[in-house]
Amino acid sequence: MPAARPDLPPGPAIRRVAAVLALALAAGPALAQSPPPSPTELGRLEYEANCASCHGIGARGDGPMRPFLVRPPTDLTTLSRRHGGVFPRTLVAELIDGRGITEPGSHGTRDMPVWGRVYREQSEQQLKGTPLPREWSVRGRILALADYLQSLQQP
Ligand code: HEC
Repeated sequence: MPAARPDLPPGPAIRRVAAVLALALAAGPALAQSPPPSPTELGRLEYEANCASCHGIGARGDGPMRPFLVRPPTDLTTLSRRHGGVFPRTLVAELIDGRGITEPGSHGTRDMPVWGRVYREQSEQQLKGTPLPREWSVRGRILALADYLQSLQQP
């Protein structure tokens, strides 16, 4: 039996290295070729993670949480139709953010979470120890959502 070669890692380590290499090779070309996700695509990911439960996967206001809410979640595909055929981007961003909405007025009692506050808390955690403005990711996520919702508008 040949002596163990000290310059080679033992079996399991070799398999681990091979697995890592295989993953890197598989992911490498995809990472190199794929363009960065578009704002709409980023918005879709955000929407599916945080909004679809109430507003529905197609944004028609029919998510699985609907029966448990006092106020029905809005159909978000008719925002343009309800605003004279023009997508109300600034208003949509304000409604999603929610921090600027003080009184329960025309937009109701807010069964809708205040996403600006939620995103801000997450941003504080993520950017801890950096000098980056906390509002960057808050604003980015909200505008990506607005872009995505705009892409879903019915004529
Ligand atoms: C817990 C359920 C729930 C979740 C989650 C939720 N919403 Fe809402 N949303 C509502 C309800 C209910 C309303 C109706 C108004 C109200 O009660 O505040 C609403 C209203 C809205 C409006 C205003 C629509 C209009 O026509 O005035 C927008 C825009 C909106 N939501 C976007 C979103 C986005 C984007 C997300 C994800 C980041 C989201 N919502 C997540 C429940 C929810």
